[in-house]
Amino acid sequence: MEAVKIKENIYWVGAIDYDVRIFHGYETPQGTTYNAYLILDEQVTLIDTVKAPFTNEMIKRIESVIPLDKIDNLISNHVEPDHSGALSELALRCLNAKIYTSPNGQKGLKAYYRALQGRPMEVVKTGDSISTGSYSLQFVLMPMVHWPDSMATYLVEEKVLFSNDAFGQHLACPERYDDEIGLERLLERAGDYYANIVLPFGIQVNKLIGDISGLTFEMICPSHGVILRQYIAEVAEKYAFWAGDGVQEDKAVIAYDTMWGATRLMAEKIAAELKEEGIKAELLNLGRMHVSEAMKHTLEAKYIFIGSSTLNRGVMHTVAAFLSYLKGLNPKKRIGMAFGAYGWSGESVGIIEEALTSMGYEMRPARKAQWWVEEE
Ligand SMILES: [Fe+2]
Ligand SMILES: [Fe+2]
Repeated sequence: MEAVKIKENIYWVGAIDYDVRIFHGYETPQGTTYNAYLILDEQVTLIDTVKAPFTNEMIKRIESVIPLDKIDNLISNHVEPDHSGALSELALRCLNAKIYTSPNGQKGLKAYYRALQGRPMEVVKTGDSISTGSYSLQFVLMPMVHWPDSMATYLVEEKVLFSNDAFGQHLACPERYDDEIGLERLLERAGDYYANIVLPFGIQVNKLIGDISGLTFEMICPSHGVILRQYIAEVAEKYAFWAGDGVQEDKAVIAYDTMWGATRLMAEKIAAELKEEGIKAELLNLGRMHVSEAMKHTLEAKYIFIGSSTLNRGVMHTVAAFLSYLKGLNPKKRIGMAFGAYGWSGESVGIIEEALTSMGYEMRPARKAQWWVEEE
């Protein structure tokens, strides 16, 4: 359990979770990492921690560089337990360490951890900075990227941004840097993460990009996945794209589930028609795919068409799950369509139509088929 030196005086001391497959309902087929970073200076600083079961692993990595009780500053960029899970244990073992967090961070940490309730904290906001000797650390609040407490920390002299959940990727791998995994894999993982975590917060992402636009970066160190050093501009450009309209005009997803195949035939027919229009459609069988995988494919789709057979006067439960998940993540300004086959009553299409209409989508006319025969 060795620390990884990423720059003079800066070490990665996090943990790699190869086994995690569900992350608050989001499927993580390639696991994830919980990144913590140690900065050596006259004062020693730890930025973020790891999920609680990985506490010892992180401590061993820190102790491969310095004794644990040499830590002077504990910076908590985000309360969520994947990053603060080891903080109360560290706070108990580093009794003189100061804890730095945002105003909402203080509330959250004290609510989550009994051991931190009586512990004084240094509450910081955008523009505040601390000196650790020869280094200064600046704080940038980034509420809702990903929780109200979230913030980033910038190491001025080294031009390193510790961006917490922003620019992260759920990926467990031996590599620690973006150029070691390649741009294609990096953007695929970053897109999957954006679609499932960051998508509702486009306005806040734009604000963050504005707040850090005057800074220069040699490295961006997120709290999940690999460190950015080669492809910072590419990932930042993608974030700006996704946070704006963020769609490919010629891309559609047709997400459906089907009882006996009629709704799938409709999906295939719709895809063929879209092809005639010059629109590429991806068929997503929700009966065979986790909602978060479907969401990754939906991220840049201008057209979101959803189909379900009618089952028990409703939609199939897989489609209900996707509609609920989609509404929560709230991709905006898309073009929708509802379709589906039925035997007797045919409620599914109306339910989907209502859901997509309530999201403000421009709708194409819905399509229904009784058994196999599509209605005019
Ligand atoms: Fe988070
Ligand atoms: Fe996280």
